[in-house]
Amino acid sequence: MKKILILDFGGQYDQLIARRVREQRVYCEVRRHDISLAEIERFDPIGIIFTGGPGSVYLPDSPRPDPGVFELGVPILGICYGCQLMAQMLGGAVTAAQESGAREYGRTVTRFDPDCLLFRDIGGKSVAWMSHGDYLSVVPRGFRTAARSAACPTAAICDELRGFYGVQFHPEVDHTERGREILHNFLYTICGASSEWTMADFRTRTVKALRDRIGSGRALLALSGGVDSSVAAALLSESIGEQLSCVFVDHGLLRKNEADEVEAVFSKRKLNFIRVDAKERFLARLAGITDPETKRKIIGEEFVRIFEEEARKLGGADFLVQGTIYPDVIESGKGEAAVIKSHHNVGGLPADADFRDIVEPLRLLFKDEVRALGRELGLPETLVSRQPFPGPGLAIRIIGEVTEEKLAILREADAVFREEIGRAGLEGKSSQYFAALTNMRSVGVMGDGRSYDYAVALRSVKTSDFMTAEFSRLPWELLDRVSVRIVNEVKGVNRVFYDITSKPPATVEYE
Ligand code: XMP
Repeated sequence: MKKILILDFGGQYDQLIARRVREQRVYCEVRRHDISLAEIERFDPIGIIFTGGPGSVYLPDSPRPDPGVFELGVPILGICYGCQLMAQMLGGAVTAAQESGAREYGRTVTRFDPDCLLFRDIGGKSVAWMSHGDYLSVVPRGFRTAARSAACPTAAICDELRGFYGVQFHPEVDHTERGREILHNFLYTICGASSEWTMADFRTRTVKALRDRIGSGRALLALSGGVDSSVAAALLSESIGEQLSCVFVDHGLLRKNEADEVEAVFSKRKLNFIRVDAKERFLARLAGITDPETKRKIIGEEFVRIFEEEARKLGGADFLVQGTIYPDVIESGKGEAAVIKSHHNVGGLPADADFRDIVEPLRLLFKDEVRALGRELGLPETLVSRQPFPGPGLAIRIIGEVTEEKLAILREADAVFREEIGRAGLEGKSSQYFAALTNMRSVGVMGDGRSYDYAVALRSVKTSDFMTAEFSRLPWELLDRVSVRIVNEVKGVNRVFYDITSKPPATVEYE
């Protein structure tokens, strides 16, 4: 398969570049900028992209690639810092733009040279997204300028003989109007890519590779019912069938009908599906506990304990399957943060205990690709397009002590809210939406009687990375309908709030 290599110089859009390349059905991987030349040759790319980055190429410690990368005869596209780096390493000059006034941020009208292959058929003038404080002041020998903006005469450069292209702007972000076509030109016209990266193809290759790797061994997977572990389970089941055991722990903190839905999907597949009913065990341990962190810790510990017990009952397994996905892998290359994340996926399972090896069949896929693969494998849409649901489940959406009564109230209220969002066709407009149960009870009047019941909070947020989030501006009519239905249909609730706090200062979940 023809592949593109993305060398990561620490830019904020690195993952986005990779997604844009894969959207065009070209396989790519993101690697650290300082990988060895031998490694690059082993990867055997048809083209290389240098990403942007926060550094300045004229500073002594600025990140750079092995200079041999320019001798490989492989086309290179440098983006922003990547463009400046290429220019500087090949004999050009880069200076701080402040002095020359060529510093640009945001949407910028840019004129493109249609004779440059990178800009073929994209029109002479359109908006591009700029974000640079440095400026390419001397174009290296062999290069010419290929785009310019009012402030910057070197918005793009090219040396078409060697297949080297540099752009000051970011073709990967949506604000660059013709960005996708520019990337398409690089991938297909310049590098000669073919549309080989499809989920159907990935499925066939991965199923075979997993079969070869696992042989007659046994594999164990902690199935949460979330998208990643479900897709991993479906993929493994297709390759090794009943050598796979999936342990699904129903901790009693799931949403309405969720455990049955997961069971209905997986008990039909060729695999060893084990549903552990641990509701009472979890509730008993959570009784009387009100501190959020203690609740989370208890749930995590209990989960691991049950998983280990089940693994023991099965007489052990050779492989532990994890649903790690590509953003976690890319992050791991960058520092400490990712170590926390990779455990996050399996709810803190002891990764090295008693297993010969770890299998991560989705580690090269982005979330949207995981969903596409799930569809390809025939998983139902309800499972594939499921919004994120935290490991501790409803326990962190119930403020204070978790009891059976509170869980029952929350499950019903949440089901009403989700159903109405679905009816209004707004699922895609929100990244996560759910009901939470506040610990507040207040006086109300229902019929002729006084009530003293709980208040339910509704939350809906839009976010791209869950690090920050904005509350959704849901239509009043929808909120009205949901409120009326919850108060009428859910016993124990007499008030409904809509949460209009963003993150920060609030978090998405309540505890
Ligand atoms: P917060 O509440 O931190 O949530 O703003 C951000 C995203 O992370 C999810 N979340 C969790 N997921 N285990 C998980 O698997 C957890 O303990 C957990 N806490 C929060 C949350 O649903 C949201 O998508």
